Amino acid sequence: SRTVRVAPSMMCADQAHLADEVRELEMLGVDWLHMDIMDTHFVPNMPLGLTTVEHLRSLTRLPFDVHLMVEHNELFIERLAKIGVQSISVHAESTRHLDRVLSLIRAHGIQAGVALNPATPLSALEYVRELIDFVLIMTVNPGFAGQLLTASAIRKIEDCRRWLDERGLSQLPIQVDGNVSFTNIARMVAAGADILVVGSSSLFASERPRLENMRRIEQAI
Ligand code: DX5
Ligand code: ZN
Repeated sequence: SRTVRVAPSMMCADQAHLADEVRELEMLGVDWLHMDIMDTHFVPNMPLGLTTVEHLRSLTRLPFDVHLMVEHNELFIERLAKIGVQSISVHAESTRHLDRVLSLIRAHGIQAGVALNPATPLSALEYVRELIDFVLIMTVNPGFAGQLLTASAIRKIEDCRRWLDERGLSQLPIQVDGNVSFTNIARMVAAGADILVVGSSSLFASERPRLENMRRIEQAI
């Protein structure tokens, strides 16, 4: 059976108590911390800032997995490289120079991922498949927590797994982000999801303590 990793979406944590949140997430045994960085242009929101990421960096050794939803990827990549993050995903739709941007991430020794909006075909990966360490399939439209799965989400995860396997890229993990809920997790994993970005739909769902939510996530995998 595959190991499925859990990456809490830090924009869904309590922004007024992020240090406590990081400590609790460490105790819960999460794998990566998923940082959604938005510039209000590529998506109309801005939940987390670079200074916040920098301040959280000194609190934990957990890998920082940054999801860029910005128009000027290069600026953010340079700043994040100085802060010290382990992976950066960039949206294929956010740049005319995806090859150059992915090469820049890797030049900093950081794992590179391509994030795809729900409507974007997998063919966007075709000529950068040598430059990526993972694929981020958006299962909601990016920008906001609390949304529901898009109609094609599960099918797209399946298609992405097949697309990678057909090209001898079975070792590349698929990360899914958006409405990763207790009821969606089983279908997402069965479809081929390897890394789950968990937000308000599961880990940060308000009705239960986090430890219980984490157990429910682990049971659903
Ligand atoms: C989408 C968000 C994700 C995720 C949050 O852009 O940034 O981090 O949707 O989790 P949910 O969807 O469960 O609220
Ligand atoms: Zn994200």
